[in-house]
Amino acid sequence: MESAFRYWAVVPAAGVGKRMQADRPKQYLPLGGKTVIEQTVSRLLAAGVFSKVAVAISGEDPYWPELALAAHPGVLTAPGGKERADSVLSALLALSDEAGEQDWVLVHDAARPCLTVADIHLLIDTLREDAVGGILALSSHDTLKQVKGGMIEASVDRRVIWRALTPQMFRYGMLRDALQRTAGDLAVTDEASALELLGLQPKIVEGRPDNIKITRPEDLALAEFYLERQA
Ligand code: C5P
Repeated sequence: MESAFRYWAVVPAAGVGKRMQADRPKQYLPLGGKTVIEQTVSRLLAAGVFSKVAVAISGEDPYWPELALAAHPGVLTAPGGKERADSVLSALLALSDEAGEQDWVLVHDAARPCLTVADIHLLIDTLREDAVGGILALSSHDTLKQVKGGMIEASVDRRVIWRALTPQMFRYGMLRDALQRTAGDLAVTDEASALELLGLQPKIVEGRPDNIKITRPEDLALAEFYLERQA
């Protein structure tokens, strides 16, 4: 049965990306003949499920208005905020006239251009009947160490540790309320942590390891490689 709820995508893209040491925010660096953010948003549009993709952009960003994507009918621009969570909340509020409380929102980092359409559908198909929602995540293949002052205190059971990726998929109203109630809390580094702080338990769905976040200069070459291989 087709779900009555609609799907919305939110892309926080108002970060500066200091660790890239580049002359512009990392989402505007070239990747595979486009910019990073064009690759990312084109993956979301290609999924064909989103009523709209809301992108949070810094007020001092001269690059975004130059992209054809900024005028795409399926794309809405919202003002970015101080922290990632502020940018996500701003994009959610920009959708408030159209989105229903029970609609699903998938929040995806602008800096993750290698997301596959298959992973978008996997997340949606796994969680569409869920009460809370959840995130794409990766298990750890390395042995993990708890460290203090450069010395190992303990080994951590890697079966209980997962790396949080995006998209993160939650109900529109629940996510907006969680971000509003946890506003200013620096522990909220992703959407799931806002819901966790309210005592909710988001689920994890195992994603693909090529869904990397562009963080350091060498990540661009790796992303280029993954995009070519996916094609
Ligand atoms: O810096 P980091 O890679 O963790 O940022 C993750 C995503 O959040 C990026 O797409 C970045 O543009 C976005 N962000 C934002 N608003 C901020 C800070 C980060 O939209 N104030």
